[in-house]
Amino acid sequence: MSFRKDFAWGEATSSYQIEGGAFTDGKGWDIWDVFCREKGKVFEGHTGDVACDHYYRFKEDVALMKELGIKAYRFSINWSRVFPNGYGKANELGVKFYHNLIDELINAGIEPFITLYHWELPYEVYKKGGWLNDEVIEWFSDYAAFIVKEFSGKVTKFFTFNEPQCFIGLGFVTGVHAPGLKAPIRDSFIMAHNVLKSHGLAVKKMRENAKQDILIGIAPTGSMSYPDSDKPEDIEAARTHLMSCNPDLSNWTWNVTWWSDPVILGEYPEDGLKLYKDYLPEIKKDDLKLISQPIDFYGQNIYNGNRIKMGVDGKSEVVKRYEGFPKTALDWPVTPECLYWGPYFLYERYKKPIYITENGLSCHDMVSSDGKVHDPNRITFVESYLKQLKKASENGVDIRGYFHWSLMDNFEWHSGYAERFGMIYVDYQTQKRIIKDSGYWYKNIIAENGENL
Ligand code: FCB
Repeated sequence: MSFRKDFAWGEATSSYQIEGGAFTDGKGWDIWDVFCREKGKVFEGHTGDVACDHYYRFKEDVALMKELGIKAYRFSINWSRVFPNGYGKANELGVKFYHNLIDELINAGIEPFITLYHWELPYEVYKKGGWLNDEVIEWFSDYAAFIVKEFSGKVTKFFTFNEPQCFIGLGFVTGVHAPGLKAPIRDSFIMAHNVLKSHGLAVKKMRENAKQDILIGIAPTGSMSYPDSDKPEDIEAARTHLMSCNPDLSNWTWNVTWWSDPVILGEYPEDGLKLYKDYLPEIKKDDLKLISQPIDFYGQNIYNGNRIKMGVDGKSEVVKRYEGFPKTALDWPVTPECLYWGPYFLYERYKKPIYITENGLSCHDMVSSDGKVHDPNRITFVESYLKQLKKASENGVDIRGYFHWSLMDNFEWHSGYAERFGMIYVDYQTQKRIIKDSGYWYKNIIAENGENL
């Protein structure tokens, strides 16, 4: 089978990156609102205060999605828009915004996929210790239960966390993202464990509160590994490389298994337990039971990967990229193979249906004299990646959908508006949107269910 008949051809965004309305209608501050106000943290002092003004323009944006022909839309709910303090009384106007958005999507024939947490930690929760405070597990899972109670009459697909690797790693280990801390390594492991426990308790409470059967997953990220050749030893080397814990403690969150093994297999990986043993909090049996609540699918954000071969010493070896290796505007390598081998290895290990929850690139897009935005590099990139994904699907990997990052240009975290990831161009001075060439190209791919790839 190339792509399933009901393949979710989608686009993805997140709340802080597009909504704006940062202090509107009772929204509480989140850690990004605070971080962006600190000098020198975000490119040229950009903030998400207005972003794409989606809070006010969501109808126009859904109309554009319809124009693109997308079948599914992955967006995040801002926890602090719903619970300004993180818990307690819900903010009705915030809840109403998401109802309106969801209704608009459904009327346009687009299936909403909700991410509960795409890094929008309420500042009030942060002040109480955030992920370091065990109480966060109750607070997050209560928020998750509330969202499901509220929206599960209309929405059936949910992701708990987006990229725990990033929000713990960049937020608390290297400190380039909000809240911008370089916490002691031990603390980062406590936070990671609390994030996983929050996931587990959330899944449990979400099921208890659902109005109909819902499907739940998580959306981690990571650099994938792909073999240098089809030789079994290179494939084995790539598999081992992908599924090994990162020995570099200054960057330890960048690994697949530390996060995903507990969630799906119910245990932390042995190599990680050894590598990180001096820094780990107490891990109880019951914790793992909680963390491994059954989930329905596995999301994975995939942007690139490393070519791996079996070294002469029998260990996995990263193959150096040749000079002039293709790269995106953000200098990320272009490695389409990762969209075959990533899902292949993940499916082999976790045996869950897979959604590619993000994939895409930043380009130096601009409006041409004909008023259009020509982005051939984006088309080349997405086409080559999708071909690999199709091959994975043909070879039996259960791929349910693909969410391109992103629907429209938006606030790219500490890079501000300097990077453009969208299939829709946004002029931030006028908020005018222009569908890029890639958007029309994607529309055509969707219409043919990828048969024309
Ligand atoms: C991912 C994030 C997403 C976006 C893309 C480019 O790490 O989940 O919000 O910034 O990268």
